[in-house]
Amino acid sequence: MLPLPDAFRQLYGQPPRLFRAPGRVNLIGEHTDYNDGFVMPVAIDLACWVAIAPRDDRRLVVRSHNLQETVELDLDEAHPRPRKSWTDYVQGVAVVLQQSGRRLRGANVLIQSEVPIGSGLSSSAAIEVATGLALLNNSGEPMKKLDLARACQRAENEFVGARCGIMDQFAACFGQPGHALLLDCRSLESRPLPLPAEVALVICDSGVRHELAGGEYNTRRAQCESGVRVLARHRPQIHALRDATMGDLERDSKELDEVVYRRCRHVVTENARVLQAAEALEKRDLREFGRLMAESHRSLREDYEVSCAELDLLEELAGHSAGVYGARMTGGGFGGCTINLVEREQVEEFRRSVSVGYQQATGRLPKVYVCEAAAGAGETE
Ligand code: GLA
Repeated sequence: MLPLPDAFRQLYGQPPRLFRAPGRVNLIGEHTDYNDGFVMPVAIDLACWVAIAPRDDRRLVVRSHNLQETVELDLDEAHPRPRKSWTDYVQGVAVVLQQSGRRLRGANVLIQSEVPIGSGLSSSAAIEVATGLALLNNSGEPMKKLDLARACQRAENEFVGARCGIMDQFAACFGQPGHALLLDCRSLESRPLPLPAEVALVICDSGVRHELAGGEYNTRRAQCESGVRVLARHRPQIHALRDATMGDLERDSKELDEVVYRRCRHVVTENARVLQAAEALEKRDLREFGRLMAESHRSLREDYEVSCAELDLLEELAGHSAGVYGARMTGGGFGGCTINLVEREQVEEFRRSVSVGYQQATGRLPKVYVCEAAAGAGETE
């Protein structure tokens, strides 16, 4: 394949500017972001690239290099509607940016992504943030990165229809090489946590694909909200599950539906685990960090019920492999990937043993990515 700027020139006959936004892997803190809680994502060195140059009309001509598909969007369309396609991320971001008062200029756009789609590595936030940055710069409309992250989340909530939290767009904007981010999803304050050089971030893709806009994710979110309504009857200071303790849940357990109780228990205990994990990482206590990852996986499997047989298998296989500190499912769930913290010297052995085990049980090989923590979105050469 031609490098993206060359492909762009060949296609549109103009020199482009080039923007990049990374995917992310979440080390711990799953389904806590939309509960105002804590998360610990890492931006990874798999990214989405957007090449862009201005047009003289009010159209966005957008081509996916991966899918070899082109669409034309009208920036002045009165009632833009989602088409249930990759183009919704592009159009949703354009719509939200214009709603926020930015006047976007027409553009030719070419998009290429290395982030596997629907695998829990945030391919959607990567395309949203890279596109948003490209459209804003192409229009001479500056925007603070935090506002861009929020606008991209709004695009996904309101246009695409997935009620995701802020974690993915935040990580795509603010990732730091060599670091995880401890993010408070209420205040949006974050702290970089250095990742020990001796461990590799190894991602195993089960090959099972999810669909976030599909009902399960939004159902979980609604269950959390219904839990908050019950808890707030007795303690109005509880505005989100972030504010609740296990004591609160126990006291109100009779009034909470059994499923809602378990959903809440996951979120309350997961928030505590993130803070403990941050402490462990700062002390370089990787054993403790791994123990918390295992607890997180168990809670996601049993209480939140967002894992699946293939993810459970990958997590279990990691437990039998040498040099693994911790393993768990990552992202929204129902398929996608596990994240594994593996001693660098043991990575090849880990790849081999997990691949053999997974193939024996499922007949398929998992895709294994050894990732480095990367910088957040920006313009590149
Ligand atoms: C998806 C969403 C995030 C977050 C995770 C689960 O990736 O986009 O906002 O809720 O699921 O932790």
